[in-house]
Amino acid sequence: MIVSFLNQKGGVGKTTLAVNVADALVRRGLRVLVVDADPQGSALDWAAAREGEPLFPVVGLPRPSIHKDLPAIAADYDVVVIDGPPRVYDVARSAILASDRVLIPVQPSPYDVWAAKEVADLVAEAAVYKPDLIGAAAFIVNRRIANTAIGRDVTEALAEYPIPVLKASVCQRVAFAESATHGRTVFEQDPDGSAAREVLAVVAEVFGEVA
Ligand SMILES: Nc1ncnc2c1ncn2[C@@H]1O[C@H](COP(=O)(O)OP(=O)(O)OP(=O)(O)O)[C@@H](O)[C@H]1O
Ligand SMILES: [Mg+2]
Repeated sequence: MIVSFLNQKGGVGKTTLAVNVADALVRRGLRVLVVDADPQGSALDWAAAREGEPLFPVVGLPRPSIHKDLPAIAADYDVVVIDGPPRVYDVARSAILASDRVLIPVQPSPYDVWAAKEVADLVAEAAVYKPDLIGAAAFIVNRRIANTAIGRDVTEALAEYPIPVLKASVCQRVAFAESATHGRTVFEQDPDGSAAREVLAVVAEVFGEVA
């Protein structure tokens, strides 16, 4: 199973969600590989900031040939999580073609809703070659502000795209930035905290209650 976090818009939470979802899957006993498809190497930076044992391997593959290169690399793993790049169109396209599921983080702002057109178009274009992609892509609302209507508003605004929105969403929580500073996940910081619970809800929706 190959799942990618993609959005050409920068700073929406691709890397944050990729590493935390990867850890949630490791905690289910799965063999997980994270592929950093971003030329900036953010997931690699995250792994490098860490002291002690890695939670899962992170490899850099910021190339437009991911869909060709990945099957051989992925063979030893149950799940590969791709951390997608902002902007770079051809690499994002290759990551989509490599993926069984494409998760598109969007922040609850009209700018993110407008910018989502670009990634929605990319998914539609890739679906011409890979019809299974229809139904494999979903938006995920990230950095929702708890107890505000803006999360619901963004879900309604995203309905203009033919891509569904996950029921599970992730709130704005300092635990995500704090844990990342040390190359850690929210599960290591506080396994029973709200951030960890939200990531688990995303994983349950995407991978089923038991993977
Ligand atoms: N749910 C959240 N709560 C609080 N901070 C968050 C959350 N999600 C992401 N962030 C913070 O927002 C910033 C951008 O997140 P991240 O690097 O994951 O986005 P990205 O989409 O990977 O960015 P890029 O396009 O540059 O690769 C980071 O500082 C991260 O810690
Ligand atoms: Mg990133």
